[in-house]
Amino acid sequence: MLSLSELLVILLTCLISIKYLKVLWATRSLPPGPIPFPFIGNLWTLSFKLHPVILTKLAKSYGNIYTIWLGETPLVVLNGCKSVRDGIVAHSDALSGRPVASLLKDLLGGKGIFMANGRTWKQQRRFGLMTLKNLGLGKSSLESQIQKEARCMVDLFTTKKGEPFDPSYILEHSVANIISALVYGHRFPFDDITFKDLLKSYHYIVENIGSSWARLYDAFPWLMRHIPGPHQGSFRHMNHLNEYSKKQIEIHKEKRSSEEPQDVIDYYLDQIEKSRDYTDSTFDEENLLAVITDLFGAGTETTTISLQWGLLYMVAFPDIQQTVQKELESVLNGSQVCYEDRKHLPYTNAVIHEILRYANIAAVGIPRTCIKDLRVRNYSLQKDTMVLANLDSVLYDPQCWKDPNRFNPQNFLDIDGNFLMNEAFMPFSGGSRVCLGEQLARFELFIFFSTLMQSFSFHLPEGVNEVNTKAIYKMTLQPNPYKIRGVPR
Ligand code: HEM
Repeated sequence: MLSLSELLVILLTCLISIKYLKVLWATRSLPPGPIPFPFIGNLWTLSFKLHPVILTKLAKSYGNIYTIWLGETPLVVLNGCKSVRDGIVAHSDALSGRPVASLLKDLLGGKGIFMANGRTWKQQRRFGLMTLKNLGLGKSSLESQIQKEARCMVDLFTTKKGEPFDPSYILEHSVANIISALVYGHRFPFDDITFKDLLKSYHYIVENIGSSWARLYDAFPWLMRHIPGPHQGSFRHMNHLNEYSKKQIEIHKEKRSSEEPQDVIDYYLDQIEKSRDYTDSTFDEENLLAVITDLFGAGTETTTISLQWGLLYMVAFPDIQQTVQKELESVLNGSQVCYEDRKHLPYTNAVIHEILRYANIAAVGIPRTCIKDLRVRNYSLQKDTMVLANLDSVLYDPQCWKDPNRFNPQNFLDIDGNFLMNEAFMPFSGGSRVCLGEQLARFELFIFFSTLMQSFSFHLPEGVNEVNTKAIYKMTLQPNPYKIRGVPR
């Protein structure tokens, strides 16, 4: 006769074995990959994160489409330019879902653009694209806003008088001010405490989402919701951001008139009114708050980090810095740079593209889900399967770039020195979830970077001889904090 504890052990072993056999059974129909362990899947092999180096190594063993298990959930990884394009570009619509982990679900409630799905995502994304266009993307109003912000940035750099300083906050302040002007209709002065607090809240949330606390929350949401820890801080900071935005929405409601809408909030309030009678409308103030968070969250850190990398690379490769400056001088002769000028500045344009390629700030990219069954490279992927288009493997694909591990603007130039695009240039991803702010980011990077290159020569501080171009892996690939000297030209 078995004792109760022996019976429990046998029962538990049976349960674990059945669960594991189910996982092994599922692997049959999925692309190949390392054998998953019970419960943790391949998390051990991955060192509990989706690191570009580990994912590329796995592709060498299992091919350009393979499966890894994040616990008990399979993730199909597309590796290299061809696989990624065969997936997210060729099946743009079928691969347009977004898996939303528990912490993000609780923070954003499945609203907005980035972490939304289905009808909400479609309507909010379409609104976002239309509004950015209406507010002047490609027209002069936004461009003059960026030029104005670039001049403020130069003034702030000038106050450093060529002494070593960390440029990150000035860059962030300028980039975030562009989003602020678009969303709220105003910019903030440099030392504004409210703005500093808002940016601090965004930092906290982004940092926390990338931490192991967030992974614990995703694994045990029912428990983590009730216990203290840094994850609770994310909710406090999200409230802080929403409170500020709610106040701004109220101010906009009071000030509104029949005049032209001036910013995202104006356009959104109009949209709520226009779609009031449509039962399938998702336009409401909760979605508006999430859209604001998405635009700040996705649009500030990404562009700021790209500029940080840009300045660091110019210090690391002074010959390239000088060639950019010579081109700017000979073409613009000191006049204010505008986006249209990129057509006459092929080298500068190539350098900016190479910064985005080489820095690869989005690392491996952000997972998607299949919203219907589809076939990619002879493998059937069922609805709801999670898929990762590994952007790192595209930006560093040895089939597409001559010497991918070297910073080389020639990657974007033909033999006559004309600008040349490469289909493996995908820092903004691709398909129907491609970065919503790509055009805005391109405008900002071109005008900010070129204006800084026109105004300063960047050098290492006296006595420092080495440039550290190694990245810190957080939610994005960021440079280590650094100081440089900006000597006015
Ligand atoms: C250098 C700058 C930027 C880079 C490298 C970048 C990169 C990306 C990437 C890789 C994605 C994920 C796409 C996918 O699902 O595969 C994304 C999504 C997104 N980005 Fe950007 N981004 C940048 C700037 C911006 C800016 C300035 C904004 C806003 C004004 C923005 C707004 C968004 C939004 C809203 C999404 C979610 C799109 C969706 O899910 O439909 N990004 N971005």
